[in-house]
Amino acid sequence: MERIFVGVAWPYANGSLHLGTLAGCLLPGDIFGRYHRMKGNAVLMVSGSDEHGTPITLTAEKEGVTPKEIVDRYHKEHKENLEQLGIQFENFTRTSNEFHKNVVKKFFLKLYEKGYIYPKKMRAFYCQNCSRFLPDRYVEGVCPYCHGKARGDQCEECGATLEPEEILEPKCKICGAEPILKETEHLFFKLSAFEEKLLDWLKDKNFWRDNVINFTLNFIKSGLKDRAITRDIEWGVEVPIEGYENKRIYVWFDAVIGYLSASMEWAEKIGKPDEWKKWWKDEAKHYYFLAKDNIPFHTVIWPAMLMAHGGLNLPYDVPANEYLTLSGEQFSKSKGIGIWIPDVLKRFDADAIRYYLSINMPEKHDTDWRWEDFVAKNNNELVAIYGNFIHRVLTFIHKNFGKIPAGKIDEEIWQGVVKNFEEIGKAIEACHFKEGMKKVMRIAQIGNQYMNASEPWKLVKEDVEKCKDVLHTLARIVKVLAIASTPYMPKTANKIWKMLGYKDEIYSHKWEEALEDIEENEIEKPAPLFKKLELNEIIEDPFSKLDLRVAKIIKVEDHPNADKLYILELDVGELGKRRIVAGIKPWYKKDELIGKKIVLLANLKPAKIRGVRSEGMLLAVDRAGEAILLLANGKEGSRVFVEGVESNPAKQISYEEFTKVEMKSKDGKVEYNGKFLRDNAGEIKIFKQVEDGHIIR
Ligand code: MF3
Ligand code: ZN
Repeated sequence: MERIFVGVAWPYANGSLHLGTLAGCLLPGDIFGRYHRMKGNAVLMVSGSDEHGTPITLTAEKEGVTPKEIVDRYHKEHKENLEQLGIQFENFTRTSNEFHKNVVKKFFLKLYEKGYIYPKKMRAFYCQNCSRFLPDRYVEGVCPYCHGKARGDQCEECGATLEPEEILEPKCKICGAEPILKETEHLFFKLSAFEEKLLDWLKDKNFWRDNVINFTLNFIKSGLKDRAITRDIEWGVEVPIEGYENKRIYVWFDAVIGYLSASMEWAEKIGKPDEWKKWWKDEAKHYYFLAKDNIPFHTVIWPAMLMAHGGLNLPYDVPANEYLTLSGEQFSKSKGIGIWIPDVLKRFDADAIRYYLSINMPEKHDTDWRWEDFVAKNNNELVAIYGNFIHRVLTFIHKNFGKIPAGKIDEEIWQGVVKNFEEIGKAIEACHFKEGMKKVMRIAQIGNQYMNASEPWKLVKEDVEKCKDVLHTLARIVKVLAIASTPYMPKTANKIWKMLGYKDEIYSHKWEEALEDIEENEIEKPAPLFKKLELNEIIEDPFSKLDLRVAKIIKVEDHPNADKLYILELDVGELGKRRIVAGIKPWYKKDELIGKKIVLLANLKPAKIRGVRSEGMLLAVDRAGEAILLLANGKEGSRVFVEGVESNPAKQISYEEFTKVEMKSKDGKVEYNGKFLRDNAGEIKIFKQVEDGHIIR
């Protein structure tokens, strides 16, 4: 027996989980954990909600609620979603609990006492307009390394971790002003002291994924600088040192310690408070599952922290994934691009999603989620090969025998199945999950071909004994499939298990049992495992068809043939300039409009209005015929969206289709389906006060 620790990156509790997190961290971690439990290894798999830091406080400020309200809401949602997805942790906890905070403080003090944490004066961004320091994500600007868009502590594009004052062309995220650098004192972690030790530790890590080891070595070789690990912020773990009452521990320093605290908390919960030591102090292999932007925190900073602490196991492997993109674009909460888990769980079988993400996992390079492809793989592989094979075998057995027949196995076919099964295990052990999934499919294919070739429907009339041999072999292949599928599609595997007439749950069975003989269980009439999907039923939310953009009014003219109409010229950023005809003249003066940012429905079918072509339509509140404009704040051309609804604009839509989307005014904002319309700078507002409930046209 081996001891395996599985750490899965902690999702921020500032929004719903999305498919990227599932593909990048949760699913690979779960496949790995489930496999090792079935192998009889001792698995401790932990994670939790990452509840501190500026991702949380920014969201709270945007919504005008407390950070606690945000993290409570999303931690609860995360837990429910993990349950529905079948992601099985020994402990999925949260960083805002007292247990965790105490572990962090102790860890911090230990490093402080050993001299690895020390105070230093530094300059940090300060917004004079907002009268506050701007930690991490409160600053946006340009990355000094790749010149891409960077926010606070990390560049979104090249993944470089940034020191507070490194960012170029900084802007205050709240008010947009350029911050100044102001002196403040923070505590620093002596990362520079670990260069040699880290390189030494990495020497035998030649089995790591290329991108991970290369990124890590480059990161270290370009020189490790000591890092500020406190922040001027109120939300976070208190600094356990006098004089720092107004500061908090940097979110990353706090979060990675979660791996340790969650292990300790688990031990506490099961009533064996020392049990965690078996993973952290005795021999155990530590695996961490995360997406590539998290690499340096797990392969450099956390290991250095562990070295500084001493007496705790270092990571063994960090098989970080690349990104899952959505029709070619990167998932981004702030741009409204993404597919959210609560949403997909309402619409699809969790295991169909797990299947598609396993077969399409971004292991070596980014992979794309495409709805056509999801539908095709669901229908042509999961339904037509896998589901169909199991269904036809069990239906046939049920109809003709009522129980699994005893018989002689077909050795040749069986050898092929065994070979694939063993390769699945090896693939999972090596974290080649995609390959493992393909081999599961391969077994279903072998089964299908064998059934076609041996024609049991003929044998049942001509040679019953031979027929039993064939069905016995087929039933054993189904059993192999059930066990081999458990790490990937646990709930489906369990269904198959029950269809095979077993009364217990598959999860308590061992991996090797797949190759053992099958009992003569009585079986019931099987039900199909998966449903066929139709592409045009999938993208169903009418809102997702709208292409709503921030547009700046740059010119206003009278319409030559109508009293109530203006012709507006708009700047729509990447979409270029647009002209629209708008019936707002009775209520707005020209100079009142110039420079305003409005919301444009950019994919409305162009139309001639009183002889002038209009390319789109502005959105306004309709108050008894009076049009009250919606106002945006984001960049020209950026998307206007509601969180949780994937944007999948049609090329063109009709006015009729648009009116199916029911948006209403509420609290001076615009609501769709219980959520507010927003752009990357915040919520869409209304030009003037109106009562709630007016519709938007
Ligand atoms: N919350 C971070 C993110 O989403 C990941 C934290 S991983 C941890 O990028 F180990 F630090 F917790
Ligand atoms: Zn500001």
